[in-house]
Amino acid sequence: MQSERVNDSRIEEPTGYVFDNSGELAETRYRELSALYDEQTIRHVENRGIDQGWSCLEVGAGGGSIASWLCTRVAPTGRVLATDVNPQFLYTLCFPNLQVRRHDICREGFPARQFDLAHARLVLMHLPEREVALSRMLASLRPGGWIVVEEFDCLSILPDSAANPGEEELRVMRGFNQVLMGRGVEMRYGRWLPQQLRECGLVNIGAEASVSLWKGRSPGKTLFKLNFEELSGPIIRSGLMSPAEFEADMKRFDEGDFRMLSPMMWTAWGQIPESTCRTASASASAGVRKQEEWFHVS
Ligand SMILES: C[S@@+](CC[C@H](N)C(=O)[O-])C[C@H]1O[C@@H](n2cnc3c(N)ncnc32)[C@H](O)[C@@H]1O
Repeated sequence: MQSERVNDSRIEEPTGYVFDNSGELAETRYRELSALYDEQTIRHVENRGIDQGWSCLEVGAGGGSIASWLCTRVAPTGRVLATDVNPQFLYTLCFPNLQVRRHDICREGFPARQFDLAHARLVLMHLPEREVALSRMLASLRPGGWIVVEEFDCLSILPDSAANPGEEELRVMRGFNQVLMGRGVEMRYGRWLPQQLRECGLVNIGAEASVSLWKGRSPGKTLFKLNFEELSGPIIRSGLMSPAEFEADMKRFDEGDFRMLSPMMWTAWGQIPESTCRTASASASAGVRKQEEWFHVS
């Protein structure tokens, strides 16, 4: 971790996805995300009517917990395409109906009108090109196909110790948000999702949000401490806090009475119209590849 105070605007921060998505940190992050959110993701996907035989696209699949569940759920006749800019954890999965692709959704699209379901969780908010990415997911859906997107809104509900003692806003949280926003992350994207889907011409749109109070050594606190520590350098370099203040916040974070209000997790869904599939799915066919380049049918 950074041990000196550096506040130099000449230091260029890297661009692209902000977090490590290859090593041990990534493995822990994906494990905690799975513990926190798989259950509700599965509930939302079940509510869309997923069944054996469905063809599913999982974008930014990370550790692959949802891709794995989808493979089992749609087997034996359904199939799953799981993509990520770094699919190293996906390559370790063994399902006969799984295809894994290294793929950057900002650069290219998917096979057009192939899928019954396209899902992404905590991916689009990270991408400055999130609208293009969303339209590429929509272009991959068949008429009647469902999109389910899950993203945080980190700004609409802030900690309030008057509401819950121990629910404090630490300076590191502001620093973290600021660093992410500076890197093009849309910290309220979850809140925008229903309107985004409406503007894309989808039907049967719905949305639900959840918030939790995290305490002790919950997966949520572990996840965020990991995130803060990973970005300690940029947070301190931003000049918002000194290394000593950062250390003090990390210490406070671990104390038993400290409570962390989770970000709001929004899940939004919508369906490509059966008859007027031109609206959403045809409007973004640029960059779409032919199906046979993606799927090896044996
Ligand atoms: C916060 S993680 C979420 C992982 C997984 N969806 C989950 O919820 O457990 C974001 C994931 O998006 C992937 N990602 C980032 N930029 C991407 C891009 N341009 N195209 C595809 N995947 C991307 C990252 O590699 C990472 O696996």
